[in-house]
Amino acid sequence: MAQIILAASGKGGSGKSSFTTGVGRALTALGKKVLAVDCDIGLRSLDIMLDVTEKVVFDWGDLLLDRCTAEQAIIKGDIDLLAAPRNFSDEFTPEGTAKLFKSFSEKYDYILLDSPAGIDRGFSLAASAADKAVVVSTPDSVCVRSCSRAFDELRRMGKEDVRLVINMFEVKPVCKKRLLNIDQCIDETGVQLLGVVPRDMFISFSTVTGKLPPADSPSTLAYSRIARRLTGQRIPLICE
Ligand SMILES: Nc1ncnc2c1ncn2[C@@H]1O[C@H](COP(=O)(O)OP(=O)(O)OP(=O)(O)O)[C@@H](O)[C@H]1O
Ligand SMILES: [Mg+2]
Repeated sequence: MAQIILAASGKGGSGKSSFTTGVGRALTALGKKVLAVDCDIGLRSLDIMLDVTEKVVFDWGDLLLDRCTAEQAIIKGDIDLLAAPRNFSDEFTPEGTAKLFKSFSEKYDYILLDSPAGIDRGFSLAASAADKAVVVSTPDSVCVRSCSRAFDELRRMGKEDVRLVINMFEVKPVCKKRLLNIDQCIDETGVQLLGVVPRDMFISFSTVTGKLPPADSPSTLAYSRIARRLTGQRIPLICE
């Protein structure tokens, strides 16, 4: 049975989609079978980040509305992908998406749900199937507050297993007190830490080209640590 993990944040641009592809790739490197589901209706991005845009014909909205089969909708790759619909439909409900996303549980080890920004309808559709959620925050007060709101909303939905990933972490601005330190991020979100991903220019290149960042890049190493922690390995939170 797959573990179904939601990447959420509240605020946009914190790194949810980068987390989904980074951790997804790290999990496949551990031999796990991974399905990524782009839940950002109207603003999909995972197809670009995984370099499969030209293969997208159907999306999970088509699947939900019986316009195609799962074989037609799932784009095969290192990480399999279900693209997000271009538009909302009144027929999309949290019950419907939960049933659909859970229906792939037998075939995968991990299903990663990439939530849109915000905590409204798209977020509810994405969160409905999740067993576990990861709130991805940059170390600044605005993003941390939005993650705290997303955490409250997840708890309201009965999602108890929630962890924090601090993304785009940089030591210098923290030392100069321009950004929050790790303890402050944990205290202000109230969420247990799963990992820290440094700011890494290779992610910016990878986002637009879909090409893999180097295996020894700081972000790849950080996602690998997070992936191994997700599989239950005892890995230090931060590289020494
Ligand atoms: N650790 C990092 N270091 C440097 N740049 C990063 C890092 N993580 C993400 N980025 C960059 O930040 C931007 C936003 O990342 P991403 O698309 O993953 O965020 P998001 O939370 O999914 O955004 P949205 O809310 O719009 O869906 C991208 O340009 C990406 O390349
Ligand atoms: Mg995104």
